[in-house]
Amino acid sequence: MINKKDLAKEVNRRRTFAIISHPDAGKTTITEQLLLFGGAIRQAGTVKAKKSGKFAKSDWMEIEKQRGISVTSSVMQFEYDDKRINILDTPGHEDFSEDTYRTLMAVDAAVMVVDSAKGIEEQTKKLFKVCRMRGIPIFTFMNKLDRDGREPLELIEELEEVLEIDAYPLNWPIGSGKNLKGLYDLYHNRIELFRPEEMNSGERFIHLNDEGEIEGEHELKNESLYDQVLEEALLLKEAGNEFSEEAISRGKLTPVFFGSALTNFGVQTFLETFLQFAPEPSTQETKEDKIIQPTDEEFSGFIFKIQANMDPNHRDRIAFLRICSGKFEKGIDVTLSRSNKKMRLSNSTQFLAESREAVTDAVAGDIIGLYDTGNFQIGDTIYSGKTDVTFKDLPQFTPELFVRVEAKNVMKQKSFHKGINQLVQEGAIQLYKSYHTETYIIGAVGQLQFEVFQHRMNNEYNSEVVMTSIGSRIARWVDPKQLDENMGSSRNMLVRDRFDNPLFLFENQFAMRWFSDKYPEVELTALL
Ligand code: G4P
Repeated sequence: MINKKDLAKEVNRRRTFAIISHPDAGKTTITEQLLLFGGAIRQAGTVKAKKSGKFAKSDWMEIEKQRGISVTSSVMQFEYDDKRINILDTPGHEDFSEDTYRTLMAVDAAVMVVDSAKGIEEQTKKLFKVCRMRGIPIFTFMNKLDRDGREPLELIEELEEVLEIDAYPLNWPIGSGKNLKGLYDLYHNRIELFRPEEMNSGERFIHLNDEGEIEGEHELKNESLYDQVLEEALLLKEAGNEFSEEAISRGKLTPVFFGSALTNFGVQTFLETFLQFAPEPSTQETKEDKIIQPTDEEFSGFIFKIQANMDPNHRDRIAFLRICSGKFEKGIDVTLSRSNKKMRLSNSTQFLAESREAVTDAVAGDIIGLYDTGNFQIGDTIYSGKTDVTFKDLPQFTPELFVRVEAKNVMKQKSFHKGINQLVQEGAIQLYKSYHTETYIIGAVGQLQFEVFQHRMNNEYNSEVVMTSIGSRIARWVDPKQLDENMGSSRNMLVRDRFDNPLFLFENQFAMRWFSDKYPEVELTALL
């Protein structure tokens, strides 16, 4: 067993975060640059090439390929500046699912990439909400500065208004698009020049004097942009938010960086500054409100994602485990808290950018993959000590898409029910029943969840299903005491969740408002 001092040293150099963004803001591009700095990949385009393995809908082999590929890039680990960094991918586009949200339960910080021409977009908002609920630090990277974008002040204002978070720019662009000259780096009191064609040669940084100005002669001083940036910097200093590490650590203040991932401008500065503030692995609370320290010697962790059927030859599943305390050793004996089952973890994997490798040294903060033959469920805790550890349940997320589902062959009800119940328990999908007809309705946050559901029902439970889309709905739970069954209609469908709690599926915002006007006393609540 590792001694406590060495364990603490290893744990404290872990930095585990997710990159969140709306599709196309540049998440993949920036991830790739970070991996390049860390030496985890040798060539730009590596992650990108994997990502663009587009799949034809409902063609499972292709999905499988996609999932198999995305699993290797869904956790990426590299070393930088004596830090061991874990980046967790939060899939977007057609890959968006509850897993995307749950991934955010396994990180200690988030980096939000924003397209500076577009500002805050829908998917960023959704993911941001989960980060805020967790109170983790959020760092912002305003990307694509090499293109004409919106005014930086306007972007900051929008960020603060839309997301209701304070912002603190740590650097400020000098121009943009064709006129991009550089970054005024308020944190390091220097200017970083934009030299895309000669990134590694010539002058890159100009150090500033105590007044934050260039000492002596420099061509940049003749540009009107230079005066403008000094003015804006002054404005930020006088009218902007106060810098507070404490507010950053609670997710109340987001440090903002500008840059251009594609031209690798400002990314390294971002990474180095980010690492100054990014938190070490956090403590984790158990159901009994006990705090588990990451440096505790006993090993513990929770499962936040299960990737099924990745290898068509083996039908294996991989359970993603966030280590919360201690060190993982191959062959370690653990207890699964849900069932009290004892097991030996001998087959596990660690994720690197380009491959899956056997785990050699994983401690609190790291993510490992456990090959699973059906023992694990999402939210499970495992621990190595003698005392029971059960971490708090992972939250459930309000589904947005719904389909009616039934068995194609009415003679096969048994396998249909078995499959659906297991997949619901596993967290693959959420299940509802209509009030009187007992029709099964399943809900998801992304279309992919339905496709995976249908495929797994067919392949693992031998149950072909027929799905009829209900489309997107707003789900709101109500107190059974306030419910009158006549309140339901086609525009606000009344259903029950699997715990028998009633909820309405509203057709749209308008239908929900109409309902609230009609029944002002009925309180409507969402999950997350
Ligand atoms: P995502 O993972 O967030 O979905 O975004 P991704 O990195 O794939 O980037 C989306 C598009 O934006 C890509 O172009 C990428 O090259 C471009 N991009 C990313 N960062 C920057 C930047 O700093 N400046 C500019 N100008 N463009 C940037 P694409 O045409 O969709 O892909 P590709 O065919 O060029 O690879």
